Amino acid sequence: MSTVPVTRDDRTGDPAGVLARGTDLHLNHYGAARLPFACVGGRGLELDVVDLSPEHRGRRLRLLDASGGYASAALGGAHPVVRAALARGTGVGNVTDELGSLERAELLDRLFGPGGLWTGHFPTGRYHVSGRNSGSEGNELALRLVLESRFDGRRLRHRPGKERRDTILAFQGAWHGWTGGLVQLLNRRHYRAGLPATDTAGPYGVRVEHIPFGDPDALAEYFAASAGRLLAVVVEPIQGDAGILLPPPGYLRNLARRCAADGVLLVADEVLTFAKTGSWFAMRDADGPVPTDITVIGKYLGMGAVSTSMVIAREDLAVRSSGAVTTSDLRPLNCAVIRDGIEHIEAEGLLRRSADVGVDLAELLRTALVDRHPDVFTEVRGTGVMLGVELTAAAADRIGALRRALIEAGVYAEFMAGAGKRSGGRRYVHPTLRIVLPLIADGAQATEIVERVAAGARSLW
Ligand SMILES: Cc1ncc(COP(=O)(O)O)c(C=O)c1O
Repeated sequence: MSTVPVTRDDRTGDPAGVLARGTDLHLNHYGAARLPFACVGGRGLELDVVDLSPEHRGRRLRLLDASGGYASAALGGAHPVVRAALARGTGVGNVTDELGSLERAELLDRLFGPGGLWTGHFPTGRYHVSGRNSGSEGNELALRLVLESRFDGRRLRHRPGKERRDTILAFQGAWHGWTGGLVQLLNRRHYRAGLPATDTAGPYGVRVEHIPFGDPDALAEYFAASAGRLLAVVVEPIQGDAGILLPPPGYLRNLARRCAADGVLLVADEVLTFAKTGSWFAMRDADGPVPTDITVIGKYLGMGAVSTSMVIAREDLAVRSSGAVTTSDLRPLNCAVIRDGIEHIEAEGLLRRSADVGVDLAELLRTALVDRHPDVFTEVRGTGVMLGVELTAAAADRIGALRRALIEAGVYAEFMAGAGKRSGGRRYVHPTLRIVLPLIADGAQATEIVERVAAGARSLW
């Protein structure tokens, strides 16, 4: 860790200063576990934070950000391309989807038009696109498209053959967001209890069922038993909050084949995985893209500068008239940031390059954390720049202390909840340290992150 010069002024460390006052005013949903630090600057992978704890109030630290800006800062902090795009994007009109816009048209044409960058995955003419403010909102729109596919958009009567399709399949340990529709997709009671539940009866009723992720036998069994009832499957190609869990080779393609054969819609939640696996999309294998009916992307899409998501849906999936209006559907500013960021990533070959850095990082995490500190870390999982290191039960009990220790060692990282208990005797998945590298990270920074994590762990155990 390097410290930056201590300045005790009203803007930073003073107990009555704006940082302390503002932090107290911000709704605290972490309770006593809230970290007593506030960020005052960032560039590349570096974060400048101020300590707000009573013991060290006003101390300034310079950290390496191993969270990738909560998995949203594709190009790290203060990237010149993003700064220029923000400046350009403020001068191109403020319109939502009622009016077309040049920036939106150029972005969508570049990605999905003839010869577009993403047409290998989404062939031109077969998909259309909408923008939302967040991953959660993108998934809500996806859900809405799924639910409305059962009915005719004007009179809301069942489409022939869809009368019995009232079930959505999701996966144990899934995470899709906190909003009302999405919490129904989560099998963890703690996330759902006390919130309004979906109506399961009547003509509009829908139920959600869960099976373990990544088990082809459980999938085959489920499809065999539910034929005719199933409306859609919602899947993260790599489960994030569950602890960075990868499915076995062939699993996603098998899932897509089953869905296509049974007339079931396949929704890929790629909010987290987008641009982190060495490719733009994680729904792919050695044979190429795995087709989906709806794909939702977010986080890295906004280049750490704008909060945005995109829903890429089969052309015939739609909502009733005015049913998807939002103030910020692919605003010109967002489109400018997305387009310039994507062009830069392409031009510099950052997807491939970052994935190579990720391979070395994964190996280092194994040797420097799991092999050397088996009392703290059990397993490394992941691919590309999205990696997880599962904690032991003992370390999971001290996660708050571990987070603090990592910061003291000069690194900021996130922890995922872990899938916990799963059915069929599968092993419990403990909370998992998540390392997400911005695509600009180099090998030296990856090594430094691992050294700092190891030092943080050593200071506690
Ligand atoms: C897989 C996945 N889906 C959806 C979301 C929700 O995205 P947001 O926080 O932008 O609403 C997340 C956020 O972590 C996520 O990891």
